[in-house]
Amino acid sequence: MILPIYTYGQPVLREVAKDITPDYPNLKELIANMYETLERADGVGLAAPQIGLSIRVVVINLDIISEDMPELKGFIHTFINPHILETDGEMVNMEEGCLSLPGIHENVQRANRIHVHYMDENFIEHDEWVDGYVARVMQHEFDHLEGKMFIDHLSPLRKQLIRGKLNTMLKGKARSSYKMKQVKR
Ligand code: NI
Repeated sequence: MILPIYTYGQPVLREVAKDITPDYPNLKELIANMYETLERADGVGLAAPQIGLSIRVVVINLDIISEDMPELKGFIHTFINPHILETDGEMVNMEEGCLSLPGIHENVQRANRIHVHYMDENFIEHDEWVDGYVARVMQHEFDHLEGKMFIDHLSPLRKQLIRGKLNTMLKGKARSSYKMKQVKR
């Protein structure tokens, strides 16, 4: 089932999401719905707060960009209760977008290498270092679980320049090719 994506201004996007346990109701179905919603919206990652749930569940599908980055072929992973333990090394600048911020694309500086702890959809624990594009997408998605969005990393000047677009969202007048749940005014 395709779910509407909550956009900027929805309070759930600013909450710190909670860890879940394996008995979370209908988890398999929820994850399947998140992948379907992500695919329909042509995105690479989706965090549960973006569909209105303040829980620590993230799906990432990098297979859809593997034509450009062959090393990402088959990268389709679910992250439950993920936490970034530490970051290391250089900071890298790259343009990002977000399904909750339609029409906004800005450069964001992030660590190239991160140490993450998470569970997969079978609640098997993983503890690993990742780098490059995967680390970039994880940092973006895991930020959502802390109530953060990529625009929080921008300079005051860049923020000023996107103010108009953000105000449009706050009025519930954003447009996109996928189903959204905007703030009602
Ligand atoms: Ni996002």
